[in-house]
Amino acid sequence: MEVVILPGGRQIASLVADAVENLLRNKPDAVLGLATGSSPLPVYDELARRHEQAGLDFSRACGFTLDEYVGLEPGHPESYREVIRRDFADRVNIDPDNVLGPDGSAADIPAACRAYEDRIRERGGIDLQLLGLGTDGHIGFNEPGSSLASRTRIKSLIEQTRRDNARFFRSLDEVPHHVVTQGLGTILESRHAILLATGAQKAQAVHDLVEGPLAAICPASVLQLHPHASIVLDEAAASSL
Ligand code: GLP
Repeated sequence: MEVVILPGGRQIASLVADAVENLLRNKPDAVLGLATGSSPLPVYDELARRHEQAGLDFSRACGFTLDEYVGLEPGHPESYREVIRRDFADRVNIDPDNVLGPDGSAADIPAACRAYEDRIRERGGIDLQLLGLGTDGHIGFNEPGSSLASRTRIKSLIEQTRRDNARFFRSLDEVPHHVVTQGLGTILESRHAILLATGAQKAQAVHDLVEGPLAAICPASVLQLHPHASIVLDEAAASSL
């Protein structure tokens, strides 16, 4: 695991966009793992800028999102399918049919989760997986206690995560209790994982992820097992290391 500490969000966005750009230049049909939350937004802004100003080409790439809420009506502005469309896919020239997410409204969610894993496998696996970090150490929506070998499945959110994400909804009551998320085992199979964390509110989780034991109580610590994981932090997020 490599830990990179940078002064702020702009430098982080630039470094991570460089990794995406290098990948696309070497492998135009690369498979990108897309994360939601506020941490990757500056990266998507930078990729959109490079697409517009320097012709960075996503036309042969595809994207798989990490997770999705269960129970939001299709087209809900906070469903992660919509968030990824708005924040990333609509701003570059990726084929919208090549941007997939787990289906949180399927009648048979376990079958939809298995199908999602099949789709990732059919595309040859994820080349570069972007990740944020929950204040409780979650990645995707793998809450504390998640099996380190887990695959895409339904999970319940803990109250802390619902409260953290309530800022995207009109009230806490509207935040779903259930989600579908790629598992920790799924995330471990990505060829390169880049986790982004900024701000002092992430410092404890960053400490547990980097310096704590490998333990399901801090799901992100599974990245200690990843053959190529980059942890990209600002100084505040790195302040407990
Ligand atoms: C949500 C997402 C996670 C994300 C986390 C952190 O819970 N499911 O994938 O990492 O938020 O979000 P933020 O980057 O806004 O702090």
